[in-house]
Amino acid sequence: MAADPENRFSDWAEVVRHLTGLSQDDFDLMHHIAPLAREWADEIVAVFYNTLYANAQTAAVFHDGERPERERTLRAWYLALLQANDDDLFWSGQTRIAFVHLRRHVSTQYMVGIAVKMREVFERRAIEALGRRRGQAAARAFDRILSAVVGLTAEGYDVLAHAAFNKDAAIDENMIAWLIAQDRAR
Ligand code: HEM
Repeated sequence: MAADPENRFSDWAEVVRHLTGLSQDDFDLMHHIAPLAREWADEIVAVFYNTLYANAQTAAVFHDGERPERERTLRAWYLALLQANDDDLFWSGQTRIAFVHLRRHVSTQYMVGIAVKMREVFERRAIEALGRRRGQAAARAFDRILSAVVGLTAEGYDVLAHAAFNKDAAIDENMIAWLIAQDRAR
């Protein structure tokens, strides 16, 4: 396991910014189009949960009666993203969300797959509203942010895998709860 989780996540952010080109410019673009992009929230949430509930494996992740609450939190996440900045506040929030998914055993593949659906809706609506050139630029900015959010879940599993190789570490639900609590306490 990396000696210092703080360094691990700042290293992670540096690599993601380098590989994807993610920067504050992407967030600034989201701020700029937010008045239009807020109107896409209904469709993004509908496609997201219709897709996950239409497959037995992904539907099985959810508890009975959980869907309205999940729709509410996804909508809130999307609307907040449109106003977010490339800062510690945003990334520590996304790290906590990643660990929440680990706690429910949401695989990275599920995250990657559903992100494709979200991107498709975002890109189509952006092109309809802004024209092809500006719409595609907005979709690429959204894509860079979303890829980093998804990447955090993968990174979280990687942290746990490293911990599992450490003989002294006990990997269980309590450890995931502890990681979430550390992040909330920041
Ligand atoms: C890019 C993809 C995703 C995003 C952005 C996302 C976003 C969120 C957010 C914002 C929350 C609320 C976290 C909180 O504040 O407590 C949440 C919770 C949850 N999500 Fe996702 N989600 C994604 C993918 C998935 C997938 C693929 C599944 C299942 C197949 C899933 C299942 C859940 C569950 C079960 C919870 C409740 C976790 C708990 O509190 O125990 N999510 N998600």
